[in-house]
Amino acid sequence: MSRLLTNIGQLVTNDPERDGILGLLEDAAVVIENDRIGWVGAAADAPAADSVTDVAGAAVLPGYVDSHTHLVFGGDRADEFEARMAGRAYSAGGIRSTVAATRAATDDELRTRLAGFVGELHAQGTTTMEIKSGYGLGVAEESRLVRLAAEVTPEVTFLGAHVVPADYADRADDYVDLVTGPMLDACAPHARWIDVFCEAGAFTVEQSRRVLEAGAARGLGIRVHANQLGTGGGVRLAVEFGAASVDHCTFLVDGDVAALAASETVCTLLPGVEFSTRQPYPNARRLIDAGVRVALASDCNPGSSFTSSMAFCIAVAVREMGMTPAEAVCAATAGGAAALRRTDIGRVVPGARADLLQLKAPGYLHLAYRPGVPLVERVWKDGVLVV
Ligand code: NIG
Ligand code: FE
Repeated sequence: MSRLLTNIGQLVTNDPERDGILGLLEDAAVVIENDRIGWVGAAADAPAADSVTDVAGAAVLPGYVDSHTHLVFGGDRADEFEARMAGRAYSAGGIRSTVAATRAATDDELRTRLAGFVGELHAQGTTTMEIKSGYGLGVAEESRLVRLAAEVTPEVTFLGAHVVPADYADRADDYVDLVTGPMLDACAPHARWIDVFCEAGAFTVEQSRRVLEAGAARGLGIRVHANQLGTGGGVRLAVEFGAASVDHCTFLVDGDVAALAASETVCTLLPGVEFSTRQPYPNARRLIDAGVRVALASDCNPGSSFTSSMAFCIAVAVREMGMTPAEAVCAATAGGAAALRRTDIGRVVPGARADLLQLKAPGYLHLAYRPGVPLVERVWKDGVLVV
């Protein structure tokens, strides 16, 4: 089955062979062949196809790649959000209240909630999502979460080392033994990635190193949460392990930026977190100017960032983090793909997956220019219209 999308006013290809950050084409067309992009070019040159969709001058871009979410959980923490807006600081300890609510939920309750989030992300233009465990913090509890996540995405991350659970209070090293032993054994078969929260109040650099070594030995790819609440060794640890991505990166010293710039590790910035914790935003300009590859992701979770909107992240990154609109759109699509070490998504080139977002707008600029406005017209995932 082939489908021609034509009369595209502005097409974001992210094709490195084309000009500019976004590889823009005007008056463009795309042919979808089954689940893949078959052809990209000028509308006037488009080949025939089985069916035609005229997008009437709208902008089309790759579906967003949200490379950092925590979507399997019970309950919410709206009261914590209200307290933060009144001046209380964010604390990683809040994670434990979501652990209690998640442990209390049945598989079907979590599955129904997760399906709701998947629909919510699709409706906002996200076509690939990474999902982490991390609200179980026991062998059976974490393996349940990675199994549920694997039902909806291949990008599953085992985050048993999210915080030390209450039942291991003052026994953090024993908990790391559990994570790197029986918990990893139970979770690795369902996961592609391992992650650790390397931060004061969560895991030290040495504990994090143990977690990453064990995950790497099991063939899992490496991701790290670091430098969210203060400076520390997490970013350099991630670079040392050749992590695909180190996420948050709100507080960085020059040595962190230099280490990232000299590495293949993507720096994933999460503006929803700073919005919702009232912290200073990370300085994307400093990173990009130093040559660091940057991604944007939602970090959708009930504590630090309960948004699933990549368009919101783009708008905040442009307004508050020194990114140009083109850099922000690239970071939310091709950047997320790089953070997941994927070349088949995040770009509109022949052979890539047919994951496309049609805007109710003539150009990508409107994503930052019209914040909060629902601009999604149609979404295709693997060539199938999902919105
Ligand atoms: O990415 N920083 C650690 N983990 C999550 C927050 C989880 C929570 O507060 O529930 C994050 O921000
Ligand atoms: Fe996170």
